[in-house]
Amino acid sequence: MVHKYVLYAAVPISVVVAIGLIRKWRSSKWGKCLTNTCLRGKTFLITGANSGIGLETARALVKRKARIIFACRDLENAKKAIAEIRKEQPNGGEMIPMHLDLASFDSIEKFVEVVKAGFHKIDVLINNAGVAVPLNLDLKTKEGFEIHFGVNHLGHFYLTNLLLDLLKRATPSRVVIISSTLHESGKINFDDLNHKTEIAEAQSGKKKSRHNPGYNDSKLMNVYFARGLADRLRGSGIDVNVCCPGFTYTNLFRYSVKWYHYLIFSPVALFFMRSASQGAQTVIFCASDPSIEGKSGKFYRDCTEYASKHQFSKEVESRLWTVSEELVKQRKPL
Ligand SMILES: NC(=O)c1ccc[n+]([C@@H]2O[C@H](COP(=O)([O-])OP(=O)(O)OC[C@H]3O[C@@H](n4cnc5c(N)ncnc54)[C@H](OP(=O)(O)O)[C@@H]3O)[C@@H](O)[C@H]2O)c1
Repeated sequence: MVHKYVLYAAVPISVVVAIGLIRKWRSSKWGKCLTNTCLRGKTFLITGANSGIGLETARALVKRKARIIFACRDLENAKKAIAEIRKEQPNGGEMIPMHLDLASFDSIEKFVEVVKAGFHKIDVLINNAGVAVPLNLDLKTKEGFEIHFGVNHLGHFYLTNLLLDLLKRATPSRVVIISSTLHESGKINFDDLNHKTEIAEAQSGKKKSRHNPGYNDSKLMNVYFARGLADRLRGSGIDVNVCCPGFTYTNLFRYSVKWYHYLIFSPVALFFMRSASQGAQTVIFCASDPSIEGKSGKFYRDCTEYASKHQFSKEVESRLWTVSEELVKQRKPL
């Protein structure tokens, strides 16, 4: 007869093994960038490279000898991230910390000036930085744009356009825009791009939603921007693609996660959430896989093409482009 203590031990061990196996099975579907070509001589610029998906993307590319510009809003955090990678990879590629605050047009312009003074070309621009902030906090950029619209869309829109000549000098080159499948629940309301109505509703406590329309709408703008830019650059040698890293455990949720969420959602996290390194795979794939060279205007998820459920409209795409150009010129919300 089996001793009762053996049974007591067998139950938790089986649970841990079963969870491990289910997670392994799930993660086998998340896709992995298998390319390992040497990237010596190539310059990658990653916004928000000090944390989460951006940091893991940088770590993987440095291993392949790429030169990485860490475009970060906190220079000290960029330096810390670089020191951490350098410690693990003393012979990896070069890493350069630079200050960039996407919530300020002045900062974007100063950053581009410094990049242009130091670099002749950029091979790959990765628009990774992003925020997800509860709307009731009503955060704004320096120019007064709603924070998701301003940082996730407008800041990257301006930055990318200012860097196009450096990307043209590096052809075949790439722009990789990090969106999310949450763009499928986004909408673009040209009468209220700064979400005044939703902010007021969130502050009054009238409407409680699990989703953050500010974030989702900005992720839809990311896809529209990628499609518009890909069309404008067709034939130029610059490929533009957009991707979703998948639901990933990072600092993105810092404003909304409370201590008790860790207890309630830990089973969800175990089965559904990727590590930052797993989340970075599709980004690394879009940035470096030779098999997609020449493909542009596509959406990727799990290292493969993804068919978005959103009904895209050419009219919305060109209107968003024109409005974004106007707002950048005007430097204040309409
Ligand atoms: N995590 C997910 O489940 C998930 C899913 C789909 C898509 N995404 C997308 O993946 C991208 C990376 O996010 P993550 O999950 O890795 O989150 P994260 O760990 O919070 O990283 C976001 C990065 O963006 C930077 N950033 C924020 N505001 C900035 C500003 N004004 N100027 C310059 N940099 C700024 C942050 O800098 P600080 O460290 O200084 O704050 C940080 O480096 C985002 O575009 C996000 O929308 C994430």
